[in-house]
Amino acid sequence: MASDQRKKAAAEAALAHLQRADVVGVGTGSTVNFFIDALVSIKGTIDAVVSSSGASTERLRRHGFEVRELNAVDDIPVYVDGADEINRYLQMIKGGGGALTREKVIATVSRRFICIADESKRVDVLGQFPLPIEVIPMARSYVAREMVKLGGWPVLREHFTTDNGNVILDVRNLQIMEPIHLEQTINNIPGVVTVGIFALRPADVLLLGTDQGVETLSAA
Ligand code: A5P
Repeated sequence: MASDQRKKAAAEAALAHLQRADVVGVGTGSTVNFFIDALVSIKGTIDAVVSSSGASTERLRRHGFEVRELNAVDDIPVYVDGADEINRYLQMIKGGGGALTREKVIATVSRRFICIADESKRVDVLGQFPLPIEVIPMARSYVAREMVKLGGWPVLREHFTTDNGNVILDVRNLQIMEPIHLEQTINNIPGVVTVGIFALRPADVLLLGTDQGVETLSAA
């Protein structure tokens, strides 16, 4: 089965995890695009959506969804998003699409995080995928030097500005043995807006698209 078909199957399986009249948090990326397209089939039962990026907002509006500001919403029962890597504890690396800050905020506000991914995203140890870090522009060299001290090889993502007007460092060569500790350490570097480790707020459920079908996994 092609990767796109596995992503689509995982995305469609997420519909069964939504309740009637839910406000649904919507992530960003190619897997989420399949989810947005599938969400159209139950549009009448969804109260509103909260979006994690300009790209998802545009796609949602094109499909006729009412996209609410996070500040206008008290409660998000469920958030659906993809991942760049995910381990058995459902801790993730995210931010390949550059939307990590809004994704982390909405994931943290949401009561339940459903991760949708194809099986290529499943790893034993996080860090093979370059770790995205959103940084305010004036701090990028300083933060890059701090990442070198942690053993990483930071590279500025070229020709890219986040929805929040910041830049992204993609950090290679990290074997993330203690995701919560490294997330806290990098969060504490002045100038860092968000690090793409989602360990303090992991997913609650992983819907993994495989050649054998969609597996439903909880944290080990
Ligand atoms: C967006 O910033 C990311 O966090 C995405 O969730 C992640 O890159 C997964 O994207 P795909 O579904 O395109 O693989």
